[in-house]
Amino acid sequence: MNVAVLGSGRGSNLQAILESLQQGALTDVRICAVISNNSGAGILEIAKQNSIPSFHISQKQCASDDQLNDRLLSTLSQFGTELVVLAGYMKRLDRRIIERYRDRVLNIHPALLPRHGGEGLYGMHVHEAVIRAGEKESGATVHLVDEEYDHGPIVLQRTVPVADGETPESLATKVLEIEHQLLPEAIQLFAEGRITVNEKTHQVAIQPL
Ligand code: GAR
Repeated sequence: MNVAVLGSGRGSNLQAILESLQQGALTDVRICAVISNNSGAGILEIAKQNSIPSFHISQKQCASDDQLNDRLLSTLSQFGTELVVLAGYMKRLDRRIIERYRDRVLNIHPALLPRHGGEGLYGMHVHEAVIRAGEKESGATVHLVDEEYDHGPIVLQRTVPVADGETPESLATKVLEIEHQLLPEAIQLFAEGRITVNEKTHQVAIQPL
């Protein structure tokens, strides 16, 4: 299965995917392309180090939203993308891309959606919000992407406790560790064809082995 990974930052989730591939925990998967909206993103560097075709595609290079989406779509299709993975991609995906890859776009979010997601809630802001709300647990969510930000049927979710005196930084470290397990697991479920989405309820069912 050809997987394209989109990200805006350091790329630790891409690194975790690549390590899962090297360790054989993730099979029948090839990272076919990495795309970032940020030319200085670590995720592009990781792609280069691993000889994965990598692209900086951003709004600033394009005259219109349509042109940006044309470039994203043509790059995805050029590499035979079958699954799109948003690994710290801080831009909302346009409807055209979601329609083209309906139920084939995964996003990882560093909290237990539907709580603590949405516009402006990314990275450390999420952990600050979780602590401010006095939550006793947080975690990570992998979900299918629909037209709303941080929204869509949940594929996998795993929790971590929020300790007394937890800081956003310490919580981020704990959640990131979970993210690095959860995202490769979700990709593997896709590769095994075990994810189905109920047309009426829009809920994900995972077929047992
Ligand atoms: C991850 O924590 C991911 O969950 C988060 O960005 C980080 C990217 O880290 N995504 C969001 O907040 C999306 N709303 P990485 O670049 O090291 O993989």
